Amino acid sequence: MSASTWSIQPDDHVRLVKAAFEAKEFAYCRYSNFRVGAALLTTTGEIIKGANIENASYGGTICAERTAFVKAVSEGVRSFTALAVVTDVASAISPCGMCRQVIREFCAENMPILLVPADYEKRLAEGIPNGGVKETSIGELLPDSFGPEDLERPRGQ
Ligand code: THU
Repeated sequence: MSASTWSIQPDDHVRLVKAAFEAKEFAYCRYSNFRVGAALLTTTGEIIKGANIENASYGGTICAERTAFVKAVSEGVRSFTALAVVTDVASAISPCGMCRQVIREFCAENMPILLVPADYEKRLAEGIPNGGVKETSIGELLPDSFGPEDLERPRGQ
């Protein structure tokens, strides 16, 4: 675990990683063939999943992370305790810049973000701690960031 995140219960960790893998199954990625799954753990213990949804215009593509946030927030859920992201790449893949800014909008700077390797189960079986999940936070991924509270600052004329 990274020193800059709070900890989540081990069963929530496993549940969230599993949900990210499930979310990846519904990726609509006919152009990149790069599947991504994301899962958000809410403060009430609910899990909200998202997959990447591509578009023939390319620019209309929505990443898995933003799918999960838009699903949650549009249903009135804005309070999160962790996020997990998985792809088909063996090493852990990190959210894109646009998703980082969306994470910044809704999550504490030290909320755990679990970057899950595709071979998580294999690594678990090999005894690698947490299946090789890399734990980070938006504070680490987007340092010196702009956020909602900046709009509250006093401004000159
Ligand atoms: N993608 C995500 O879903 N999340 C990221 O953070 C990185 C990129 C998707 C977008 C696109 O469908 C595919 O991965 C290739 O960029």
